[in-house]
Amino acid sequence: MARIIAIANQKGGVGKTTTAINLSAALAHFNRRVLLIDMDPQGNSSRGLGIDITLINRCIADVLLSESNINDVVRKSMIKTLDVLPSKLSLASIDVNIAGKIEQPFLLLKNAISSLKKEYDYIIIDCPPSLGFLTVNALTAANSVLIPVQCEYFAMEAVAQILSSVSRIQSTYNPELGIEGFLLTMYDSKTRIGTEISTQVRGLFKENTFLTQIPRNVSVPESNAKGLPVTIYRPSSSGSLAYFSLAKEVMDHEER
Ligand SMILES: Nc1ncnc2c1ncn2[C@@H]1O[C@H](COP(=O)(O)OP(=O)(O)OP(=O)(O)O)[C@@H](O)[C@H]1O
Ligand SMILES: [Mg+2]
Repeated sequence: MARIIAIANQKGGVGKTTTAINLSAALAHFNRRVLLIDMDPQGNSSRGLGIDITLINRCIADVLLSESNINDVVRKSMIKTLDVLPSKLSLASIDVNIAGKIEQPFLLLKNAISSLKKEYDYIIIDCPPSLGFLTVNALTAANSVLIPVQCEYFAMEAVAQILSSVSRIQSTYNPELGIEGFLLTMYDSKTRIGTEISTQVRGLFKENTFLTQIPRNVSVPESNAKGLPVTIYRPSSSGSLAYFSLAKEVMDHEER
């Protein structure tokens, strides 16, 4: 049965999509069967895996609206054991489209993917930068949430907000939702803010913070632009090695 991990933080640009793509690719590298679900209408994780979202007819929105069979929308990636459920802009208006028509709108994603759980070892969900409808669906469907924390100013305020959303979901739609871990991203040991945020997060959430920190590394945005995971574009770059190391930590949780 797949372990379902949502990657969430309502703060924009903290490394959610980069982590979704590269953690998925690294898990697949270790022979895990992985499905990456793009729950962001920006479609960045679909694009980051080389999918031209202007050319696709159907996306996750059609699955959630029961207009397409999920098996017809899942696509293969350049990595053998990594599949993608792409998104495009139409996902942005889904909450308006279903308003008043569906009884339990926050269970849409959970119900949509239940038939796929046997096919994968991991289902990774890339969330948009908001705590709205799409993120609530992701947190309701997930076993755990991975929270990227960018080593920058105001990082801790964002952490407090996402944690309060997580506890709201735990007390309503998903009591079993766990914390997969906090992940420090775009870490630069040469900046004071980098070490400050790292120390604060590790001080507050010691047990729950990944030992792996993702360094700021130019190969990461370059790989994005090429539509490839950094683990394939520059396998021995510091960014790639960090994502391999993160994948090992996540796989260590399999025994939990
Ligand atoms: N380790 C890294 N080193 C250098 N640049 C990075 C790194 N991680 C992410 N970036 C860059 O930072 C930007 C934001 O990253 P990303 O898109 O992953 O964040 P996000 O949280 O998904 O953003 P959004 O909230 O818009 O969905 C991107 O341009 C990405 O290429
Ligand atoms: Mg993103």
